Amino acid sequence: MELLTRFGLTFGFRWLHVLGGITWIGLLYYFNLVQVPAFAAFGDDGKSRNMAIDKVARRALWWFRWAALFTLVTGLLIVGITKDYMKDFMTDKSLFGAGHDSVIAVGMVLGITMAANVWMVIWKNQKVVLANAANVLAGNPADPAAAAAGRSAALASRQNTIYSVSMLFFMVGATHFYSGAFGNVAGSKAVTFFIISIVIAAVFEINALGLIGGKATTNKLLWPYESHKNAIITAFSMWAVLWILSEILFKK
Ligand code: HEM
Repeated sequence: MELLTRFGLTFGFRWLHVLGGITWIGLLYYFNLVQVPAFAAFGDDGKSRNMAIDKVARRALWWFRWAALFTLVTGLLIVGITKDYMKDFMTDKSLFGAGHDSVIAVGMVLGITMAANVWMVIWKNQKVVLANAANVLAGNPADPAAAAAGRSAALASRQNTIYSVSMLFFMVGATHFYSGAFGNVAGSKAVTFFIISIVIAAVFEINALGLIGGKATTNKLLWPYESHKNAIITAFSMWAVLWILSEILFKK
């Protein structure tokens, strides 16, 4: 029963965590790459679109939000159960190397922000969209707030797509790249990398919430969110900036 020992569980929670993660992020990509363009293709056919929202999106959103919570909880359990995981965190004496600690901390902040976006922005607004679709299908008048709610959810959803590329790079790279490639970088450099990364991520999040220039499609700052192509370009640009920054800071 090695799997039930403390050591075994550090692996067991990783396994469950990755299962949760692929379910969550798989559905995130389905929404962004498939569902949004497919539903837009319904055009003026409001009945078909509302049927699809009611029967397809409702189910997809159930798995999406619970998978996000499951991934978050199992991720935190890995931290809790691994012996000495946070001991001497981001210092020269760090267990897995300060480089590892720094990038897993960035990955976790991105992941936690993504989970908060799922529950506090996307699901909150999608509830309005789902209720409107069901109402209209039942022959009641449309809710005028539904379009704005859909826009808020879409901005946060594309922001999560943008974060996901860097998040997964640091999540997997912490152990499988940074520990081996850079070893124990100076604690001060690890902290510098963490702070710069979090500032960049925070600017993105504030913008996606419409707190810089509003949520209108005329706001040029929202370019990264106006199509899935723009989101993919932005995601890899953000990743390239963070990766190059880490290479410069952690160079031996
Ligand atoms: C929601 C917040 C999240 C937290 C708090 C979290 C936390 C963690 C932690 C602590 C580790 C162990 C890293 C190490 O020391 O090697 C880890 C690994 C990992 N996480 Fe996450 N994570 C989160 C989200 C995600 C998401 C959304 C995915 C998407 C698939 C994901 C996929 C992975 C993968 C693939 C690993 C590597 C497992 C390994 O190779 O050992 N995580 N995560």
